[in-house]
Amino acid sequence: MVDRRNKRVITLEEYIIQAQNKFPGATGELSQLLRDIGLAAKIISREVNKAGITNILGEDGSTNVHGETVKKLDLFADKQLISSLNRSNITCMVISEENDGIVELDNEGGKYIVYLDPLDGSSNIDVNVSIGSIFSIYMRQSDIDEGLSKADALQPGLKQVAAGYVLYGSSTLMAYTTGLGVSVFTLDPSIGEFILSDDDIKIPETGTIYSVNEGSYNSWDLGLKKYIKYCQVEDPQTNRPYKARYIGSMVADVHRTLITGGIFIYPHSSQYPSGKLRLMYECNPLSFLIEQAGGMAIDGEGRILEIKPNAIHQRTPIYIGSRQNVLKVREFIREYS
Ligand code: AHG
Ligand code: MN
Ligand code: MN
Ligand code: MN
Repeated sequence: MVDRRNKRVITLEEYIIQAQNKFPGATGELSQLLRDIGLAAKIISREVNKAGITNILGEDGSTNVHGETVKKLDLFADKQLISSLNRSNITCMVISEENDGIVELDNEGGKYIVYLDPLDGSSNIDVNVSIGSIFSIYMRQSDIDEGLSKADALQPGLKQVAAGYVLYGSSTLMAYTTGLGVSVFTLDPSIGEFILSDDDIKIPETGTIYSVNEGSYNSWDLGLKKYIKYCQVEDPQTNRPYKARYIGSMVADVHRTLITGGIFIYPHSSQYPSGKLRLMYECNPLSFLIEQAGGMAIDGEGRILEIKPNAIHQRTPIYIGSRQNVLKVREFIREYS
């Protein structure tokens, strides 16, 4: 953690420009894209912090492609992020949890594709528990005059050029990576700026917190059941029993894991045979970020980032966090498979 008590305040905008200046050939487009996301994040944060006072809580009355009841804040965040990305001629296509198909933006010449989970943890909105937004950025593969193709939308997570999240918690923070480590910014609402709080955060190599919805225990594979029982055994040598923490907002659970170490798990279950979490706008961006912080993310066997996608809303099981914890659960999965 960088000690910034005596350091000059660096805003997100300044940081992005400084990072861009390290690449003389940089066009500044990715920088602008990150700033556009930062702007939308501030607007969503303002709305989240007024929720309960303004009429932004509750359901919108529709259901999305996943059969989930859509919350007003889901749609507000979706609209804010898409309109912010539409401002600059940089993004050609957005795929978001709240839109069944691909959203082609006004500027088909844009060279970036953005995947969005505009509001993650919707079930927590009305009970005032932390929620987030997640973004994942790819370069288009097709030439501009060829027009967009399915291949543009279905790239493996390894091809991400940037990814990150905004966490609307006790404070609003933004964490992102462009493949050169992970930077974290905290919003200072008094000046409306994201201020750098850590410019190269690393996840602890091992941790003593496991995070999983134990309500679906009975439908887990034996290996995962054995791993969770392993976490609960009394063994001071290995700091067990671990603590169980589960917020139900992936961004909040993964951010805590980044800070404290440990593991977050959403396995496949009878209710979600392929897992619940979506590969392209939840698992890939958070896996890219956690790997950049020195952690690990698998689907139970292989790297999340190597999964070849075949559908924009496809789901995957995920085991993500400190290397030692992820390696340990994989040992159990292999042993009892
Ligand atoms: P979203 O609100 O974007 O649909 O995502 C909800 C996800 C994720 O945030 C969280 O980890 C998971 O759903 C919680 O699922 P359960 O309620 O089944 O535990
Ligand atoms: Mn949802
Ligand atoms: Mn989500
Ligand atoms: Mn969502």
